[in-house]
Amino acid sequence: MSTTEEHAKEVPTEITDEKETASETKKESEIGYVILFFFVGLIASLLVGWIIFPKLLYSQKSQPFDFNHALHMQEVDEGCQSCHFFREDGSFNGTPKLAQCIDCHEEVNGEDPNEEIFVTEYVWKEREVPWLVYSRQPNCVFFSHIAHVSEESLYEGKDCVVCHGHHGETETLRPYEYNRITNVSRDIWGHNISGIARNSWDRMKMNDCARCHEAARDLASPKDLKAPTTRFITNIIDVAFPGTRPLSKGSSVQTERGACFECHK
Ligand code: HEC
Ligand code: HEC
Ligand code: HEC
Ligand code: HEC
Ligand code: HEC
Repeated sequence: MSTTEEHAKEVPTEITDEKETASETKKESEIGYVILFFFVGLIASLLVGWIIFPKLLYSQKSQPFDFNHALHMQEVDEGCQSCHFFREDGSFNGTPKLAQCIDCHEEVNGEDPNEEIFVTEYVWKEREVPWLVYSRQPNCVFFSHIAHVSEESLYEGKDCVVCHGHHGETETLRPYEYNRITNVSRDIWGHNISGIARNSWDRMKMNDCARCHEAARDLASPKDLKAPTTRFITNIIDVAFPGTRPLSKGSSVQTERGACFECHK
């Protein structure tokens, strides 16, 4: 009896020894796996977030034909205003109509295939060109150019850069990209998927409109001017982390009563 008892005692201790060393090596390899899986997961989610997700979310369309702004700016007499102007009632012509092109394009003059498409498919058939507008806002938004640009600056197109970037100097048109779910142009959210904007024209979301309105209001009424230190700090935040500063109290979007109807009619 006693021998079997001793034997029975010995066996489990041997087993636990083996178990301990085995579980130690197991722990080490488990940590290795955890780290490996962490990095595999991290890389996979970065790929999904930065490359696959935007590919799935945005779809592309090309413009009816290419258009060269730089070339045309050398041909016209009145700068941007030749094609983009205010009508008598203050409304904006927006994208030009055939009437602004016809003087020079009644016939195919050059070798450019884009001119040929334009003249044969649109001018001769008297069809307006269905340009895709990169800066198009959702339908719920009211925007009017006359409040934002003066006649003088329209000639050279200086103010346009603030919201549209250097579109007026481009030689070719980039593809138009839109969100598959909302149908809204990608320019509203911006081309950086994280929503970070380095330039004022990188995106035009509600807060981007509001931020400029807020700044304009600050300048308009001297009693609302911020203390120099506050202004200094907000400037640093604006430079270091553009687009992240919360709007201050009294800004139109957050607190002012009825302010919504400034931009949503
Ligand atoms: C002041 C004269 C003038 C006006 C106005 C004008 N064009 Fe042109 N356009 C030219 C000249 C010159 C060229 C270069 C030679 C050519 O291909 O005929 C040109 C070239 C083009 C081309 C081919 C090169 C390119 O841009 O890709 C297209 C397309 C075109 N024009 C479209 C238009 C449209 C659309 C309008 C109206 C919004 C317009 N043009 C207004 C003079 C003009
Ligand atoms: C000869 C006519 C002509 C002239 C001059 C001209 N544009 Fe244009 N513009 C067009 C046409 C055509 C379009 C539509 C195609 C496109 O998006 O470029 C357009 C579109 C635009 C857009 C709309 C972009 C969007 O959101 O879709 C902007 C901004 C613009 N032009 C700025 C300018 C500026 C700034 C100047 C002066 C430096 C200028 N244009 C001069 C013909 C012209
Ligand atoms: C304060 C910002 C801002 C400024 C400054 C500005 N735009 Fe725009 N622009 C917009 C917005 C926002 C839209 C889209 C409007 C909409 O969807 O109703 C637009 C639309 C346009 C369009 C397309 C209009 C259409 O419906 O066909 C053209 C062309 C254009 N802008 C040209 C210009 C030119 C040229 C200038 C300079 C003289 C200029 N913009 C200055 C914000 C601006
Ligand atoms: C670069 C600065 C700037 C940006 C960006 C901007 N605005 Fe403005 N906006 C102004 C200023 C300044 C005024 C006031 C003009 C005035 O009082 O004559 C104004 C006036 C307006 C008005 C007219 C208000 C009235 O009382 O009639 C509307 C509507 C408007 N903005 C809508 C928008 C929308 C929508 C956006 C964004 C898509 C936008 N704005 C982006 C500067 C800006
Ligand atoms: C300075 C102009 C401006 C003011 C003021 C403003 N909005 Fe907006 N709003 C916009 C613009 C531009 C968009 C579209 C771009 C975006 O989604 O950010 C928008 C989009 C929206 C949307 C999303 C609608 C959609 O179809 O995607 C809602 C909801 C909204 N606004 C509510 C409000 C409310 C509520 C207020 C008042 C507290 C307000 N807005 C004040 C400019 C403004």
